[in-house]
Amino acid sequence: MSTLLVSSDSASQSPTMLRQVVLWIGANAGGVGKTTLAVHIGYEMANRGFDVALLDLDSNGSMSLFCGLPKTAKVQNTMAAVFSESFAGNWPLVTPNWNAPKGKLQVCPGGGVMSKVTDNLSSRRRREYVLADQMQTYPLPHHLVILDCPATLGTLNDAALAASTHLLVPVQLTYKSIKGSDGLLEWYRSVCRDLQLNPAPGILGFVPSQYDGSEAAQRKILSQLPGKLAKIKIHCYPQVRYSSEFNNASGKGVPLHLYRGNHEACHDFSNICDDLTALIQGDKQNG
Ligand SMILES: Nc1ncnc2c1ncn2[C@@H]1O[C@H](COP(=O)(O)OP(=O)(O)O)[C@@H](O)[C@H]1O
Ligand SMILES: [Mg+2]
Repeated sequence: MSTLLVSSDSASQSPTMLRQVVLWIGANAGGVGKTTLAVHIGYEMANRGFDVALLDLDSNGSMSLFCGLPKTAKVQNTMAAVFSESFAGNWPLVTPNWNAPKGKLQVCPGGGVMSKVTDNLSSRRRREYVLADQMQTYPLPHHLVILDCPATLGTLNDAALAASTHLLVPVQLTYKSIKGSDGLLEWYRSVCRDLQLNPAPGILGFVPSQYDGSEAAQRKILSQLPGKLAKIKIHCYPQVRYSSEFNNASGKGVPLHLYRGNHEACHDFSNICDDLTALIQGDKQNG
């Protein structure tokens, strides 16, 4: 984990040593709320005064949509540039026009060009380390870097994991999704072992997502999940509730906080952000 000497208005009152957290947000399924989690955590952390970079590794481009940014097909304006052999440190970061009032929030767009990246990675030497290498050679100055990852657990995700310090896993409260997370954990352990990641990124926790308490099955799964995860020493965060307003906000290209600032679901990310704050400030050890 790199250390930043940063002076920040509300991240700390005086210049202090802060640690950069690189958060892998992923799941081996689409539609579980990865991008929603990335954008809302990013917004809340920026609002707390931290500088945040959201890196979109997914070819579906939903990060740009959710942040109200135009679609871009040009390699040099996307994360594809960072993966190219000619990358010289010019991170193509853009700022949504709703930037958080305190910290800085920037996005490095993904989109269709990321499919090519996935294809090309297989022929690269050190393919699983490409992102980690670029981040080490050309470090981002942000306190928090969030990697919004695709659902396919292939080489691109291996590279994202190798570049990260922590993982956060949204999980829907369905039997299929819970079962699927076994495969995710198997993949995580094998990548850490095979790539000899040292230190291995820690699992910050699982986040039950799109929780609808009117469904008995969801209530039952939610009541059992924290205990099951505790047995394998994984933290379970409080659920992010289901609300159609998330969908509405994403259609407007803004986080829920800026669409319905008084909506109760705006608070559903606070526990995660408290832990990220503690990690950045060095008050908490690896998850
Ligand atoms: N808590 C939630 N309640 C209701 N809809 C949600 C919630 N979280 C995400 N969604 C919606 O579900 C869809 C998939 O979410 P998204 O974050 O894009 O998932 P992923 O990145 O895992 O594919 C989007 O339309 C999004 O607006
Ligand atoms: Mg997504």
